Amino acid sequence: MIVVPGPASQILGVEIGKLLKNVVIAPLLFKKFPDGEAYLRIGADLKGEEVIIVQSTYPPQDYHLMQLYQMIDAARTAEAKKIITFVPYLAYSRQDKTFLNGEPLSSKIVCKTIENLGVDEIYVLDIHSELVLDFFTIPTHNLMALDLFCDYFNKLSLHDPIIVAPDEGALKKAQKAAEMMNCDSTHICKTRDRHTGETAVTLKDMNVANRDLILIDDIISTGGTMAKVIQMAKSQGANQIYAACSHALLIQNAKTRILQAGAIDIVGTNSVDTECAKISIAPLFVEKFSRQ
Ligand code: R5P
Repeated sequence: MIVVPGPASQILGVEIGKLLKNVVIAPLLFKKFPDGEAYLRIGADLKGEEVIIVQSTYPPQDYHLMQLYQMIDAARTAEAKKIITFVPYLAYSRQDKTFLNGEPLSSKIVCKTIENLGVDEIYVLDIHSELVLDFFTIPTHNLMALDLFCDYFNKLSLHDPIIVAPDEGALKKAQKAAEMMNCDSTHICKTRDRHTGETAVTLKDMNVANRDLILIDDIISTGGTMAKVIQMAKSQGANQIYAACSHALLIQNAKTRILQAGAIDIVGTNSVDTECAKISIAPLFVEKFSRQ
């Protein structure tokens, strides 16, 4: 078996390769041509091998997607026996429907391309919409890092913690985490203007006075959602506030926005390779993969 750590997930890929027994970690040569096009070359013989390609597709997502497509095509061309991809952050998953007339179904384009290039099985992490997985006909696995988050926060000895979902989409996650940590949960209502993309949160008594708070979501992009809920929680007397998510994209000034709003820390996974990646999802993948 050969693990190929893609350019966007070099450390995660190596961690996975080390945790799996008896696998080769393939070296990868990659660069950007002067005109911006991606080039890569896998430095191992993949013929007849089971190959695991690890590549998250966080921003710049089109570039990371192209690299993913290139690795899949290289593995197919080299006559790999089976190709498994682990794409923790599957780009375009928020475009899972056509919301307005004239829009394309972008997530379907991504799934169909991955599958048509010859992938046999795909693993993702906490995908924004499970509907997206229906665009695949190959086996799919949506990994959830909730256990890892609970372990992380349990170690912090928080004071009377409460888990908050910043929108209804994160409600089930917050409830499950609260069950696992034996604490309370609540959620906020968020609406989004489909034309401008602007979000608004509804004011609510969150019962957070003098309590530590964990905000949990799948994605932090601009940080707008988190910042609005943090400000609301602070005005209601919350203590320490943590902003946690599976995919900390942290576009532009998102980190500053969240910290300035009053959060003490941002806790993400290494689905996105940043300094906020405090939780490794390598053991999660290896455990699930080894059970198949
Ligand atoms: C959308 O519903 C997601 O679950 C996140 O809440 C959203 O992507 C966060 O975006 P932003 O950080 O830009 O507010």
